[in-house]
Amino acid sequence: MRALQNVRLSHAGAAPNLCRTGRALRSARQNPLGAGFGPPIFLAGRGDERRGEAARSTRFAGSAATGRSWRATVKPRRRRLCDNPSVNVRELFPTQVYAASLGGRGAQRLNARLLQEARQLELDDEAGRRWSASNYPGGYTSYGSASRMHRASPTFAELERRLKRHVRAFASALGLDLAGRPLAMTDCWVNLMRRGVVHGLHLHPMSTISGTYYVATPAGAPGIKLEDPRLDRMMAAPPRGRGRRGAGPWVVLPARAGHLVLFESWLRHEVPANAARSPRVSVSFNYSWF
Ligand code: NI
Repeated sequence: MRALQNVRLSHAGAAPNLCRTGRALRSARQNPLGAGFGPPIFLAGRGDERRGEAARSTRFAGSAATGRSWRATVKPRRRRLCDNPSVNVRELFPTQVYAASLGGRGAQRLNARLLQEARQLELDDEAGRRWSASNYPGGYTSYGSASRMHRASPTFAELERRLKRHVRAFASALGLDLAGRPLAMTDCWVNLMRRGVVHGLHLHPMSTISGTYYVATPAGAPGIKLEDPRLDRMMAAPPRGRGRRGAGPWVVLPARAGHLVLFESWLRHEVPANAARSPRVSVSFNYSWF
């Protein structure tokens, strides 16, 4: 009886011959409209439903023993053409993004050390503060001065070690054929965004996989905003997929301390203005395939 949806009834003096087709229900118990509702009726078979549009509305009628005549209109569940097994709708060239907790024993302790070193680095790194004043107004990044922190600090080296399994898992999910050569971390730098600081739209040239590990994400700290890579080719494209994740031109993935996000380096992204009172601190990195 699953085919019976949206049953509408009317007692409008119908004649029994309004029945379209079907098999007779032999007892009131089989009556889809409820036991005792009326006399035996005819029920459209599933074949009618499959016949599509012509069978969209099937009318039942009865008369009867009770002296009441009635009819019902049954609308079968609407079937979409793309649900038909003979129609093949494929997803091609998907954009994959990896998000996970860094995990492992002592992860919180490592996070606390990263936060401490990031703050200290800002104090010590005069060249970085100068670079940030021109390129990262209001914030601090070591991108222009100390961009290989995994080589400079055992704490960041430990972060690199813990990231390895995530990068391997993501490369596997992407189906990358690395021909036996591993992806290697080439850059690793600190970002400290104070209130109101924005990280503009960009990508990471000359790299294979990029990502960010979140060190401090106070309430109100923005996530990472990823751009649909097809956006610059869309012409006369209507909005799509209300409510479907990833259906709009942007997707924001929330930032959460202790978690990381990985994406292919060509995927453009930005970080909207930090609305939190305290700084949003993260470590960004690039992996290359040599
Ligand atoms: Ni970036």
